[in-house]
Amino acid sequence: MKRSSHNHVTSWSEVKRPIVCLAPMDGVTNSAYRQIVRSLSKDVILFSEFTSVDGLVRSDHVRLRLGYEPCEHPFFMQLFGNSPEIFAEASRMVEERGILGVDINMGCPAKKIVHSQHGSALMQDTDTACRIVETIRKACSLEVSVKTRLGWKNDKNLINFAKTLESSGASMLTIHGRTYNQAFKGEADWEPIYELKRHLSIPVIGNGDIRDYNDGLEHLGNLDGFMIGRAAIGNPWCFLDRRKYPEPTHYERIDLALKHYHLFRRFKKELVAVRSFRKYLGNYVGGFHNAKEWRNRLMQCQNEESFVECMQQIRRIETPLALAG
Ligand SMILES: Cc1cc2nc3c(=O)[nH]c(=O)nc-3n(C[C@H](O)[C@H](O)[C@H](O)COP(=O)(O)O)c2cc1C
Repeated sequence: MKRSSHNHVTSWSEVKRPIVCLAPMDGVTNSAYRQIVRSLSKDVILFSEFTSVDGLVRSDHVRLRLGYEPCEHPFFMQLFGNSPEIFAEASRMVEERGILGVDINMGCPAKKIVHSQHGSALMQDTDTACRIVETIRKACSLEVSVKTRLGWKNDKNLINFAKTLESSGASMLTIHGRTYNQAFKGEADWEPIYELKRHLSIPVIGNGDIRDYNDGLEHLGNLDGFMIGRAAIGNPWCFLDRRKYPEPTHYERIDLALKHYHLFRRFKKELVAVRSFRKYLGNYVGGFHNAKEWRNRLMQCQNEESFVECMQQIRRIETPLALAG
């Protein structure tokens, strides 16, 4: 991998281990949230929400997703689709924006995605999966990574599938330790991911059920890194090493949530912003006696003024659990 210094990564072998990643999450890992995570941690590799290659090529509205702030480097744009040529065109657009690389979604289990032969469906079509990687590699000089699952029904084909992706030019793989059939059910199984790493030379990142950085270290085994998804929603502190950084205070939580909200608001109309910010509040607003009641009140807010006022009241009125004894 050759990268200029502007996006900070020059070679995967030089990247500090463990490689810690913010998972791509639709509706969550937009530019505003990536900036918030970056404000706490300079090393986390950030992934965008998945974005349709067909959409990128055809729609001005979808192309807004290519917007980001320089502080977000290093970050990957995650793409989904199934036509190698359209992937190539979309990847060139990503490259023109100076983004580090593209991550190909080969793991989304949503019906709509799989029925269009995108996402997880590519696990069952190794030929197309590999042609996508090869075609992007030929079309541009971006890093090409793939995020996938253990397999369709089981992990029997994982090693073959991953080795073929590696020989097609993928330079990093993330494996979510569940199958397509499991979707989000059951516990993530990391054993097949450790076994896979023994067969590959590119970095392998494990994903599934990690609560925070220290939990990630416990799961790391022989892998190059780990990726955190759900536990990171409204909890950007989860990427910090608890041995070095204390839990955020009550005030830090509220202040960062408000900063996040204002960044988020730049991209959305007022009511849409107030409503869709709710998904982050479960984690941001916690750690004091009346947290549940306040969260309920925040969920009822129908405009920005009442939302911001409610957050400020929490900051003024509530005492953190630790101080309340
Ligand atoms: C709200 C939400 C949106 C997601 N969107 C994406 C996506 O756009 N692309 C993707 O590869 N995975 C997506 N995922 C899956 C996560 O990236 C991750 O693989 C999964 O949540 C397991 O990791 P976790 O246990 O740390 O959450 C999404 C998950 C959630 C909860």
